[in-house]
Amino acid sequence: MRNANEPRPTDRRDDEAAERPRRVTVTENGPVLVEGPVEVVLDDGTTVTSDRFTVALCTCRRSRTHPWCDTSHRRRTKR
Ligand code: FES
Repeated sequence: MRNANEPRPTDRRDDEAAERPRRVTVTENGPVLVEGPVEVVLDDGTTVTSDRFTVALCTCRRSRTHPWCDTSHRRRTKR
């Protein structure tokens, strides 16, 4: 039988995640990668959430699913 004071496996995972800073990775000409889950407050005050393990936030403003990156940043323009 489990000791009532012993952390459950999910509690342990939460504790491990809380012990280190959340990682945010800036990519060149692409999205900002944030360890999920995340809650994003948009400029109009609405809030969107994602439970993904890693969330790609659009920085180019070309995404049709803004604030999420849909890889539109990869499109090249004709010269
Ligand atoms: S950064 Fe990927 S679509 Fe904007």
